[in-house]
Formats: sequence, structure tokens, C-alpha cells
Amino acid sequence: MRERTPTLTASEAVPGIARYDNGAIVFHWTMAVLIVAVGVLGLLHDSWPKGTSAFWINIHALVGLTVWVLVIARFSWRLSHQVPALPPGSGEFSRRFSRPVHLLMYLLIFITPVLGIITFIWHGRVFDFGLFRVDFGVPRNRAVFHPTEDIHGYLAYALFTLIGIHVLAALWHQFYRRDRILERMWPGGRRPRVTPNKAGQA
Ligand code: HEM
Ligand code: HEM
Repeated sequence: MRERTPTLTASEAVPGIARYDNGAIVFHWTMAVLIVAVGVLGLLHDSWPKGTSAFWINIHALVGLTVWVLVIARFSWRLSHQVPALPPGSGEFSRRFSRPVHLLMYLLIFITPVLGIITFIWHGRVFDFGLFRVDFGVPRNRAVFHPTEDIHGYLAYALFTLIGIHVLAALWHQFYRRDRILERMWPGGRRPRVTPNKAGQA
């Protein structure tokens, strides 16, 4: 009698873990670097030498606008690409909370620049892209830009807090739980072909 070949599940068939695709990894690390840059520039607003702050606020605004465009592109990409399923060993807490926390980060990365844009324009500032300038011609209006500037700051601090928790969680998973979560998002690693399951979808 011929022996039957056993049917393997995806995780048995492929040694390794399901990783994010290259596009998602490029988006993630590009946005991470730009968000750190825009955050540092924001925190330094009151520290620039006299006469240079308009220049630096413009740089902050341009980097922030880039982040805004990228998060819209990234989120559209995410809606059309499956998120890899979490490794079998990851705990119930991660399964429940990682997606909502990621979505909250996307929301904050989208909404924080919106308040920044309103603050910038109603401050009577002009976007200077180097080759051209964009002037909305809105007169400076303290009643608008004062509260929006505060809200923009609070949202940025909320985002920084969430990012801090996110980074600690990634490191905790990698080095304490050793469930290789960080490898899912690490550039240049091996990329085993594992079919994502429903539990891992966005
Ligand atoms: C994710 C993107 C962004 C982050 C994390 C961020 C972060 C910050 C932070 C931390 C501050 C200082 C708040 C404070 O002092 O309490 C700030 C101020 C400010 N940001 Fe942003 N920002 C972002 C995007 C933008 C964008 C897109 C614009 C405009 C197009 C913008 C315009 C401003 C302005 C006008 C201020 C106030 C500067 C001043 O007059 O003192 N920001 N931002
Ligand atoms: C400004 C900094 C960062 C931001 C805004 C950010 C944001 C995000 C977001 C939104 C996701 C969800 C991706 C998706 O499913 O669509 C994600 C995933 C991930 N991030 Fe970050 N991240 C940042 C920095 C970092 C750093 C520094 C690390 C590593 C220490 C890291 C490790 C990871 C890992 C491992 C995942 C995949 C989690 C999983 O498998 O479920 N991130 N990040």
C-alpha cells in the first residue's frame, strides 16, 4: 500500500515567521524616521536662534506634510494588502490590542498634521517649497491658531507616548518573549512565503 503524504499547515511547511511585505517595511521605517525628525523639530520651536524660527517652522511644516501624504498612501496600501498573521506563540493581549493601537497611531499621524496645517495657515505663514511658494492669503488670526496650536501639540504628545509604548512593546517581544515580532518588520530579513490567515487581517 502506498504511504500518504501528510498535509502540512503553513506554519509547519515553512520554517520561520510571516513577515510584512517589502512595501510595508519601507513605508514603516521611512515614516518612523520622518516622524522622529518632525517631532524633534516641533519640540525645538522655542529654541531656534532669533530670526531663524520662521525658516525652521517651514522645514517642520514640509516634513510634516510629507508624513501626512505618506500616511494616507500607507493606509490605502494597508487596506489593499493583508497583514501577516501573528506568530502562534503571541499572547492574547497582543492579539487583542496590537491592531487597535496601530490604527490609533495611524489616526494620530493623520490628524496631527491637519491641526498643524490650520495653525500654519491661520498664523499667516506661507509654505516655502524652495522652487515655489504657496500662500493661502489668510490673515493672521489668533482666535484660530492659538487653540489649534495647543491641540496640535497635545496630539503630537499623545502620538509620542503611543510610539514610546509601541517601541517598548516591540523590544519586549523580541528580547523577552522572543516571539520574533520585530523580525516581521525588520528590513532585509528572510521572507518565508506564509499565507496570512483571517486572524491577521486588518
Ligand atoms: C506628524 C506630524 C507632526 C508632528 C509630530 C508635529 C509635532 C509638533 C510639535 C511637538 C510641536 C510643538 C508643540 C508645542 O510646543 O507644544 C509642533 C508645533 C507646530 N507645528 Fe507641528 N507637527 C507635525 C506636523 C505639522 C504640519 C504638517 C504642520 C504644518 C503644515 C505643522 C505646523 C506646526 C506649527 C505652525 C507649530 C507651532 C509653531 C510655533 O509657531 O511655535 N506641524 N508640531
Ligand atoms: C515613529 C516611530 C514609529 C511609528 C509611527 C510606528 C508605527 C507603526 C505602525 C502604524 C505599525 C502597524 C503596521 C501595520 O500593521 O500597518 C507598526 C508596526 C510595527 N512596528 Fe512600528 N512604528 C515606529 C517605530 C518603530 C520602532 C523603532 C520599532 C522597533 C523597535 C518598531 C517596530 C514595529 C514592529 C515589529 C511592527 C510589527 C508589529 C506586528 O507584527 O504586529 N516600530 N509600527
